[in-house]
Amino acid sequence: MTDSTANAMWGGRFAAGPDAIMEAINASIGFDKRLAKQDIEGSRAHAAMLAATGILSDSDAAAIREGLLTVLSEIDGGTFQFSTALEDIHMNVEARLKEVIGDPAGRLHTGRSRNDQVATDFKLWVRDQIDAAVTGIEALMRALLVQAEQGADWVMPGFTHLQVAQPVTWGHHMMAYVEMLARDRSRFIDARARMNESPLGAAALAGTSFPIDRQMTTEALGFDRPAANSLDAVSDRDFALDYLAAASICAMHLSRFAEELVIWSSAQFRFVRLSDRFSTGSSIMPQKKNPDAAELIRAKIGRIFGANVALMTVMKGLPLAYSKDMQEDKEQVFDAADNLMLALAAMEGMVRDMTANRDKLEAAAGAGFSTATDLADWLVRVLGLPFREAHHVTGSLVALAEQAGIDLPDLNLAQMHSVHPGITDDIFAVLGVHNSVASRISYGGTAPEQVRAQVARWKELLA
Ligand code: ARG
Repeated sequence: MTDSTANAMWGGRFAAGPDAIMEAINASIGFDKRLAKQDIEGSRAHAAMLAATGILSDSDAAAIREGLLTVLSEIDGGTFQFSTALEDIHMNVEARLKEVIGDPAGRLHTGRSRNDQVATDFKLWVRDQIDAAVTGIEALMRALLVQAEQGADWVMPGFTHLQVAQPVTWGHHMMAYVEMLARDRSRFIDARARMNESPLGAAALAGTSFPIDRQMTTEALGFDRPAANSLDAVSDRDFALDYLAAASICAMHLSRFAEELVIWSSAQFRFVRLSDRFSTGSSIMPQKKNPDAAELIRAKIGRIFGANVALMTVMKGLPLAYSKDMQEDKEQVFDAADNLMLALAAMEGMVRDMTANRDKLEAAAGAGFSTATDLADWLVRVLGLPFREAHHVTGSLVALAEQAGIDLPDLNLAQMHSVHPGITDDIFAVLGVHNSVASRISYGGTAPEQVRAQVARWKELLA
């Protein structure tokens, strides 16, 4: 005998409804309602295919397809009543469809299972997020190009070990992030190409005996081909992991840049001024302007990479095919995607608004003996010294300047001669930071002409 509280979708086998705790742990509707659009899109494609193959009558399929649009408009309009007892988005939609169109609703699930259904829905959702991430990355790249073009010849210190190393240009530094983001973008594009196979029609795990047309649903949903193994199709979550891996690396890059902005906007550096629109104040210290957006972007990698680890851990021990563990795939991906998009948008806004402090950058570029390498190179080029000896001579000159409390260009010729008698007046030309950066004309180097060439290349690629 069937209990009246037993589940409407599978109650036939059950004598009692679930315990409240069972319902609470089992339900995913609280979060998978975000898949409503994809679920309805997938169901509409499935219904059209069932009619085209003669599995369903045209009139039933038409009623289903029309009814699903009604359900979607209720969800979009906020009038849909989600039910935890109906567990997930798939059963919520189907139950409502039954209320809207009556009996034909019961035929929609022919030749399909929630296993291929959820794999399809989630894939469509992740695919949309990949497209959004690519768009967000490109917007940030464009913002960086504006900064790079404007400051192609502004000099600033280049660091290694966060110690002043050699002068570089502002544009060059901005373009480094353009390259990083370009790789992030290509990772998302790769992931999209790899994932774009349709799970729909894999049914529960073994395929179906109904004469379905998988090619038709594949095309309707914008997939490249149907997934070739039904067991794999319902149990694969690689696509979400590929997304999270790409998102993690992108968030890591954003975090590095955010860290630089935090450092650069400090009173000790003053390399950039962040706009009021992307800063906050302190409730107690009136002078403060805090780079909160940068700090939060720096932190976002924590939850995004956390999602990557979480899903990898959920998947690692699962036997084929579907296991309910896989319901734990979604929340973290949703959260990661929301936060990646937020981080990209905030970074874009910050980059668009920020002002480089050109004078401060230039002053800092010359400090810390940053042109010592130029001096050594001059000794090699003009005096014909072996580089190792030139390195040694330069080191002695740096020590001399340090003792005197001055920078390299402030040493006079007599002081230079005390270290090496062959040095001539010409050396002072290479000790200036502008000459230094202008000389670094090797491909990909920091010279303004190289930076401008890269800006032009990327502008064209992004056009
Ligand atoms: N809510 C489930 C999920 O997110 C849908 C698939 C349920 N399939 C099943 N055989 N119980 O994974």
